[in-house]
Amino acid sequence: MAFLRASFGFMFMVLLSSTTISIAHPGFPFTWGNVGGSGGGYFSLFPEFYQFSCPQANDIVMTVLEKAIAKEPRMAASLLRLHFHDCFVQGCDASVLLDDSSKITSEKRSNPNKNSIRGFDVIDEIKAQLEAACPQTVSCADILALAARGSTVLSGGPNWELPLGRRDSKTASLSGSNNNIPPPNSTIQNLITLFNRQGLDEIDLVALSGSHTIGVARCVSFRQRLYNQNGNNQPDETLERGYFYGLKSVCPKSRGDNIISPLDFTSPAKFDNTYFKLIMWGKGLLNSDEVLLTGNGGNTKTTELVKSYAEDEGLFFNQFAKSMVKMGNISPLTGYSGEVRKNCRLVN
Ligand code: HEM
Ligand SMILES: *[C@@H]1O[C@H](CO)[C@@H](O)[C@H](O)[C@H]1NC(C)=O
Repeated sequence: MAFLRASFGFMFMVLLSSTTISIAHPGFPFTWGNVGGSGGGYFSLFPEFYQFSCPQANDIVMTVLEKAIAKEPRMAASLLRLHFHDCFVQGCDASVLLDDSSKITSEKRSNPNKNSIRGFDVIDEIKAQLEAACPQTVSCADILALAARGSTVLSGGPNWELPLGRRDSKTASLSGSNNNIPPPNSTIQNLITLFNRQGLDEIDLVALSGSHTIGVARCVSFRQRLYNQNGNNQPDETLERGYFYGLKSVCPKSRGDNIISPLDFTSPAKFDNTYFKLIMWGKGLLNSDEVLLTGNGGNTKTTELVKSYAEDEGLFFNQFAKSMVKMGNISPLTGYSGEVRKNCRLVN
């Protein structure tokens, strides 16, 4: 019982030791088992968390998303990425949404995030509507998880049952953001290590990288591959020739850091499995994309997974949904830990 963190957890165990589990009061998380894995104790996430306290939560999220994504299809990608950058730093606790303040050093300025992470206005809009409908009920961390799922669905990707009940952190971690989120020039070993650190395996790594079927990257994120892949002033030899020349024409050797290119140039707004086909053809944009196939001389578990997902979109969609739930369960704050922020940018 080492994971029984708080004494009230034990009390509930005694009180609710009969066979049926009831919800102590609306929106209060209590189930047997620990979906989260790390530190969730007896409080875990479950899909019906807002069933009584804010039944319309997902509808509100979807209505705002539909408008935002119709206006700018890329927003779906940006919101999906926000959830990832949240979960890899202190768990899925909305730490990524906090602005600088006297007590907070924002993660928005980290290397992976600066000039890059976006979608905060859409999250603010969702939060404002949820506060109007169900004050101080739906956490910003759950909004990020709902927005990531909704964005996937609205882009043509899979749907899944989404465990809810995350609470919001009162802290952020700039160093965590710098150290835990893999850089785009990662080696395969680097990627596997950083995912393992979050309790995610190679299957999750490849499936979740499939997010790069939508959205864009900046020149600064893939320039090394074009001009100096291994410190020898040579391009990455795994890049297909035509694609390489195309990229060079939009991403100069110096300057132009913020010029963008689609991660999946054939269908940048459609969630499908072409990302994996492109990798097979040497047309993955980031080094971290291509090494899933070619890393360790093409002798990793990830190589076979890229091939399977390129061949079978259903297999990819299925695993993507599972891995998204797994990522969404990284060290959530539950029970009485953390808070439900009124404004996602500020601690209460
Ligand atoms: C496997 C390691 C990963 C690396 C190294 C990586 C790296 C990157 C980089 C460098 C960009 C472009 C940023 C820029 O240039 O501004 C990007 C974009 C993106 N990433 Fe990842 N990523 C990884 C995994 C993931 C995961 C797990 C997800 C989601 C579950 C994700 C979702 C996205 C999306 C949707 C975009 C496009 C964002 C937009 O257009 O605004 N990535 N990623
Ligand atoms: C990745 O890029 C960073 C920053 O430019 C650099 O310091 C590092 O050596 C690169 N890593 C690899 C494996 O090329």
